[in-house]
Amino acid sequence: MANRGNFSGRIGFILAAAGSAVGLGNIWKFPYEAGENGGAAFLVIYLFLTFLFCYPVMVGEIAIGRKVGLDAYSSYRKLGGKGWGLLGLFGILCGIMILSFYNVVAGWAFGYFLEISFGSLLDEPSFSDFFSRYVVDFWDNLIFSFCFMFITAFIVVKGVQRGIEAASRIMMPALLIILVLLIVYSLTLPNAMAGVRFYVLPDLTEIKLSTLYSAMGQAFFSLSLGMGALITYGSYLDKKQNILSAAASITVVDMSVAFLAGLLIFPLVFSQGQSPEQGPALVFVVLPGIFKTMGPILGKIIGGGFFLLLCFAALTSTISLLEVPVAFFVDKMKVNRKLITWILAMSVFVIGLPSMLSLGAVDSFSSLPFYQGRSTLDFVSELFSDISLPLGGCLMSIFIATRWGTADLSEELATGNPNYKGSFLEAYINVIIKYVIPVVLGIFSVMIIIEKFFGLEKLFGN
Ligand code: PHE
Repeated sequence: MANRGNFSGRIGFILAAAGSAVGLGNIWKFPYEAGENGGAAFLVIYLFLTFLFCYPVMVGEIAIGRKVGLDAYSSYRKLGGKGWGLLGLFGILCGIMILSFYNVVAGWAFGYFLEISFGSLLDEPSFSDFFSRYVVDFWDNLIFSFCFMFITAFIVVKGVQRGIEAASRIMMPALLIILVLLIVYSLTLPNAMAGVRFYVLPDLTEIKLSTLYSAMGQAFFSLSLGMGALITYGSYLDKKQNILSAAASITVVDMSVAFLAGLLIFPLVFSQGQSPEQGPALVFVVLPGIFKTMGPILGKIIGGGFFLLLCFAALTSTISLLEVPVAFFVDKMKVNRKLITWILAMSVFVIGLPSMLSLGAVDSFSSLPFYQGRSTLDFVSELFSDISLPLGGCLMSIFIATRWGTADLSEELATGNPNYKGSFLEAYINVIIKYVIPVVLGIFSVMIIIEKFFGLEKLFGN
């Protein structure tokens, strides 16, 4: 195998993997999912699912990647034979499709950065009207999402260490700092405490079936699980590293950023008298409100700074999404890394166009007859993340349980963590991967497919 490059060590890997995890999923998607699903009730379930299912899946993915040292397809193929290779291909497809719509939303964030810093967004009378106008503006969307894809490809071309790792090192801590400062400020606004209550005091009667699968999909999406991103990143990790503690750090960082994003957004929602149930528009409508209260100059600086950092967070995620198919073509097909990166990036950009035009710009994309009249963006994001990622995690566990074997998993995990074998953690991870995930996520995956396409909730009236 040619030299594929490696992360520079423990911190480099954690930063890059946490960079993949932390992104629009935490700051854009998590608050609106929580807002639509009862606030604190969603938060509690989300945290529970993350510990119960996602941490073991993350450990499993990184272990598979590091064991083989190749892309997602080749890893499954090598450990499990041809049939299991398909699971790797499925992950690569999910990566491509997730990137296609993710890049559109990242384009909005980029546009907001420019409109706040250099335009007059903060003078708008209604931020929700502005957002509705903004998402149907063809040229703005086209240019900004194109720029975003271009920058992503540019960094991926540079390779693992110089590109991906260097980018994460600076941007992640900066995002965290600005988030905390904004929270402190937002808590001083009138009626902020109503938002805090909505967000941290769970009303368990709010828990419905849909809360459960929204939280499940969100947990997998937010941690970049179920499609081979962490297999790919794990393949660049050296054998000395302790996978279990690295995965724990990534999980905690990701959860903390999502939690903090909610702690910023809900006080703002309530202090502005808005509804938490606005879907994908939520942060784009609510956040400008806080920047406006800071006055014209400070508002532009802090508001622009925030959206710029959000772009960086999204960038470390788009990089990891693009890296999955790139690694496949480089490892398996032996194609030139630079060339394939540009070809893939431009193709994914084109695949994303229907999602980009589906928020009102083009009717046939905005209202899909076979998907209850909902948008292409909803369709792609629900099919390839909410449904496919937990399914991918489930299949990965079945792969470990029935093919690779938990004994080999333990072997790989003990490399870099000599105390692992015989520990409680080993017993826990093995039981969850062998029994709990295949059964629970298996049932769950079937149910969510029925629900999304045929409407399970109508059947049970809940
Ligand atoms: N975890 C990323 C986010 O929260 C999105 C992502 C999903 C990235 C799957 C890679 C793989 O923004």
